[in-house]
Amino acid sequence: MPPRGRSLHSSNQSMLVCVVLLLVTLCSQGGNGEETQGQGHVSVVIVGGTGDLAKKYLWQGFFQLYAHHVSSGNSFSFYGGGLSPAEKATPVLFEILKAVTCPKDVSQERCAILREQFLRLTEYKQLKTVEEYQDLSKQIEQQLQQEGLTEAGRLFYLSVPAFAYADIAEKINSTCRPKGGTWLRVVLEKPFGHDFRSAQVLASQLGSALKDEEMYRIDHYLGKQVVAKILPFREENKKFLDPIWNKHHIERVEIVLKETLDVKGRIPFYDQYGVIRDVLQNHLTEVMTLMTMRLPVNLSSSEEVLQNKLRIFSSLLPVGKNQAVIGQYQAYKAQVQQELNMTKDHISITPTFAAVLAHMDEAQYEGVPILLISGKMLDERVGYARVLFKNDIFCLQNQNSVHCKPKQIVFHFGHGSLQYPAILVSKNLFKPVFKDSQWKEVMEHKDLSVLGLPVSDYYVHTPTELKEAYSELISHIFAGRKDSFISTENLLASWGMWTPLLSSIASSFPRIYPGGADNGGLLDVNLKGKEISYNSEVVIINNNPLGGTSANGFQVMQGKFRSCEMVSAWAEELVEKLATDLQEAAEEAVREGGVFHLALSGGSSPLALFHRLALHHFSFPWRDTHVWMVDERCVPLTDPESNFHNLHDHLLQHVKIPYYNIHPMPVQLNQRLCVEEDGGTLQYEEEIKKLVNGSSFHFVLLGVGYDAHTASLFPGPKIDQHGESLVALTESPAKPHQRMSLTFSAINRARRVSLLVMGKSKHEMITQLSRVKDNPQKWPVTGVKPSDGRLVWYLDYDTLLG
Ligand SMILES: *[C@@H]1O[C@H](CO)[C@@H](O)[C@H](O)[C@H]1NC(C)=O
Ligand SMILES: *[C@@H]1O[C@H](CO)[C@@H](O)[C@H](O)[C@H]1NC(C)=O
Ligand SMILES: *[C@@H]1O[C@H](CO)[C@@H](O)[C@H](O)[C@H]1NC(C)=O
Ligand SMILES: *[C@@H]1O[C@H](CO)[C@@H](O)[C@H](O)[C@H]1NC(C)=O
Repeated sequence: MPPRGRSLHSSNQSMLVCVVLLLVTLCSQGGNGEETQGQGHVSVVIVGGTGDLAKKYLWQGFFQLYAHHVSSGNSFSFYGGGLSPAEKATPVLFEILKAVTCPKDVSQERCAILREQFLRLTEYKQLKTVEEYQDLSKQIEQQLQQEGLTEAGRLFYLSVPAFAYADIAEKINSTCRPKGGTWLRVVLEKPFGHDFRSAQVLASQLGSALKDEEMYRIDHYLGKQVVAKILPFREENKKFLDPIWNKHHIERVEIVLKETLDVKGRIPFYDQYGVIRDVLQNHLTEVMTLMTMRLPVNLSSSEEVLQNKLRIFSSLLPVGKNQAVIGQYQAYKAQVQQELNMTKDHISITPTFAAVLAHMDEAQYEGVPILLISGKMLDERVGYARVLFKNDIFCLQNQNSVHCKPKQIVFHFGHGSLQYPAILVSKNLFKPVFKDSQWKEVMEHKDLSVLGLPVSDYYVHTPTELKEAYSELISHIFAGRKDSFISTENLLASWGMWTPLLSSIASSFPRIYPGGADNGGLLDVNLKGKEISYNSEVVIINNNPLGGTSANGFQVMQGKFRSCEMVSAWAEELVEKLATDLQEAAEEAVREGGVFHLALSGGSSPLALFHRLALHHFSFPWRDTHVWMVDERCVPLTDPESNFHNLHDHLLQHVKIPYYNIHPMPVQLNQRLCVEEDGGTLQYEEEIKKLVNGSSFHFVLLGVGYDAHTASLFPGPKIDQHGESLVALTESPAKPHQRMSLTFSAINRARRVSLLVMGKSKHEMITQLSRVKDNPQKWPVTGVKPSDGRLVWYLDYDTLLG
């Protein structure tokens, strides 16, 4: 068929007659009873009408809309808009249109007529300049006038890159706004920004051209039948769910989207976004709100649904670095190099996998882990939300009894072993109620299992007719149902949740995974309290600058630095090694003398070590350990700047150490801070002499500052003046200036001193230190020379290699 433009309003009057006749014929077959949005004419404009999304879903969706509504009092015209000139794009558009198919409930004859009609009603328009948008508007108005039609509304679907939104919205506002009483709806596709700030900028740009109620931000997940059923399901099964939908009964909630494909061909887009922005911030977050929000009194009230959703965000606990693990499939690096035209040494740290743990500060869900997980190149394609309930029945004998099996509700979005969308309720919970006829129970089960249970152990319900998400959402746009779309407030709240996490992991290196079945247990995660971590501590080093690739490299390098022992590894393993060495030293000391004296310093480097020690605290001899401070800032111990305060928060409160084994520095005496006459330094020294044999600590942990200071011993002439005293007041160039510190005398008596240095930013300093002679006035750390003990440097690869 040759390409044809829409010809209703043109000179072709006989066509008009024909159309009117057809409409009459179709009307006589009766409407289908769906909601309508005012009688009259609707103009639909798909900007980006020949793009991929339009080709795959949008035209099909609008054709279905047309098929359902043409007989209910609305008339339509459709425009495919784009930047290309009409001669070039029209044939492309008509190729796409020819592929649309009819909904199942339409007979073949009627289908042929509808398709023919749809083609006639559709036209390509070049939409680049303001004049072209003005032309479009004129054309719409002329048509209305010539045909004596009342206008119902104008629907613009922007299927274009997000950077073009503001400009197009502006053009629509200035040229295509319909006259009073007629609706304007503008549909937008993600990405809606890159973080909170950019989303806010975009929202305010759009806000100056469009009213909030005119914007329809699509998240196609909300059009998936199972997702759309979550709230109605919760409502219909309220009497079963009310008693168990809470922290006493829910073990955890999981919202998972696993994909098998990679992102080859989409790298220029994907590399700037990554999995958290691409999937978690929108699709999975939306599902999370549906699972946890308070049920609205009136499910059809968009207003109430949106308000209840919003409330969820304000009760979420902050999500930070310790609530996420990230990964990247191995082939990604090469794909990035190729598609972004980068050299072989270019590394991207964009995550293609993420598992995030959220918690809610609400009595109902307090302590219930909510997991959001998605990734590319995983072992299977599947999407689901599962509520796993606690099961406190212990079956001694009949292990296969239904009581012993997992109790769970699975909202299965599609794919996976089951292949079809379904809601599954394990039979040991309750028999669910489905009030509408659009869902049916599946009685015959194939021999397969879903999330650890044979399908036959579930009540399984599936939609009677499978519907495409986009078609569903297009019909909601037409019906003005805003609850299936993302409001501006909702969008900003979601970015408010994700932006802090995104910035905290911005320079984190993702765990590299091979892809598919080979991932094995590499991406398994472990939940401990409010924190998540990878279950295995093995890390693949795919970019080992010191040699070949190692598949399961727990690679720790041993060598020499400044003629002393050196241990070097990626940060994670380095901390692991230091923790192991520390524990060995502790066990040895306790074996020999019944006590272990450990002196710890402040700063950020040891925090990772503290976390590691806290996690493994059961096996460490904390009962026989005394903890001393290497240095302290002259602030009250309750001040967040206090080293002791940090040590307490990150380590001491998590381990079982007797109170009387903890020795903070007495920086505050007589209600004042670090005054010489108060004798705080002497007091600490006496305490050391009283408890530590020979004032010789078993283990001293030190860091090194950018100016090569260590403990609170800063460059300058004063550094040599402490003589034999073990503790001194010192001055820092940074605030707070006053410090209390162990002296070289105290440090160099220790049996073992460890210097921990991590991060790229320390590379310069470490490079310099590798060359210089001892000169404690200039580089204080070079004054650390245990007279009778071991000194070991722990340097991570970032520090060592820059
Ligand atoms: C649309 O444009 C008009 C001017 O043409 C302006 O007054 C108005 O604020 C704009 N925005 C909205 C939401 O109407
Ligand atoms: C529920 O909300 C819808 C949409 O706002 C409204 O039409 C309907 O009357 C409401 N129902 C009740 C019972 O309030
Ligand atoms: C890749 O980079 C090279 C050198 O900078 C350039 O000559 C070439 O055109 C680039 N190719 C692409 C596809 O950008
Ligand atoms: C104290 O240290 C000295 C020298 O290291 C050692 O000989 C002695 O046994 C230690 N005393 C105790 C009680 O551990």
